[in-house]
Amino acid sequence: MKKIAVLTSGGDAPGMNAAIRAVVRTCLDKGLTVMGIQRGFSGLINGEIFQMDRRSVADIIHRGGTILRTARSEEFKTEAGQKKGAAILNAFGIDGLVVIGGDGSFHGAQALTKYGINAVGLPGTIDNDLAYTDYTIGFDTSVNTVLDAINKLRDTSTSHERVSIVEVMGRNCGDIALYAGLAGGAESIIVPEKGYDINELCRTILEGKLRGKRHNLVIVAEGVGGANEIAKKVEEVTGIGARATILGHIQRGGSPTANDRILASRLGYRAVELLMDGKSSRVVGVRGGEVIDIDIDEALAMERKFDEKLYDIATALSY
Ligand code: F6P
Repeated sequence: MKKIAVLTSGGDAPGMNAAIRAVVRTCLDKGLTVMGIQRGFSGLINGEIFQMDRRSVADIIHRGGTILRTARSEEFKTEAGQKKGAAILNAFGIDGLVVIGGDGSFHGAQALTKYGINAVGLPGTIDNDLAYTDYTIGFDTSVNTVLDAINKLRDTSTSHERVSIVEVMGRNCGDIALYAGLAGGAESIIVPEKGYDINELCRTILEGKLRGKRHNLVIVAEGVGGANEIAKKVEEVTGIGARATILGHIQRGGSPTANDRILASRLGYRAVELLMDGKSSRVVGVRGGEVIDIDIDEALAMERKFDEKLYDIATALSY
């Protein structure tokens, strides 16, 4: 293993830069050549590859986004695109590839391994939807961004004695809603894993008001969606003013939290170690605080378990 390349793919996540930095500096520390691939698998197909040094990753540990840029490539989903990608890596003499991204990016890495490329995946997505790891890089920052918004919405919700419906990202995973909802003291958390009943929600809101609650915060995961419709229905049924806020892409930006930077640094380091040990088709993650790695096929086949206990705690503490 002499030359390793790194790319970021799919939706960006805060902490991706810290992960790139960790991969680049670990490679250099171990005497390897390291290449950066721009714009994910799209850039790979176009040969957008350049050599990196220690200074290429200076001043980025605290920055959101990804200096390598990112993309969602349709061409790379085809066999022809994947073959092209593998050929380019071979042409550049790249012995190992680190792919930083989520589920879709891991499928890309998995495809490349079928053409003999050594690849390791690093979980970079705000969604926290990868079953094999407790946390993904970017999730903690995103939860804190949502939390900041919830704190602000609580102020205005309390002043006007209104209901605030906050829609958050996460694709089909309710973790951002669950964690931010628990940390923000939300009255209700609506996630795709549990579903919801509009009448029950309205009842909970009315009961809260009768118990003296001045505000009511409802966090809705985008996998359920419909924040505007929920607000309209709540207002109609309860007679209490309701407003919807869809947080959108601000959840993807911002300076990564210490947790995300540390996770990214640990996982980036391990990814390079694995490639140096001749291991490929692996993804790295964290379980019970320990860095782990597992087979990419196994990781992608795993079904994510929803944290029922955390949901129960959030419910018990909400009224
Ligand atoms: O996967 C990250 C994510 O932000 C999801 O939470 C969201 O559903 C999606 O990406 C949005 O994608 P795009 O940036 O392409 O609109």
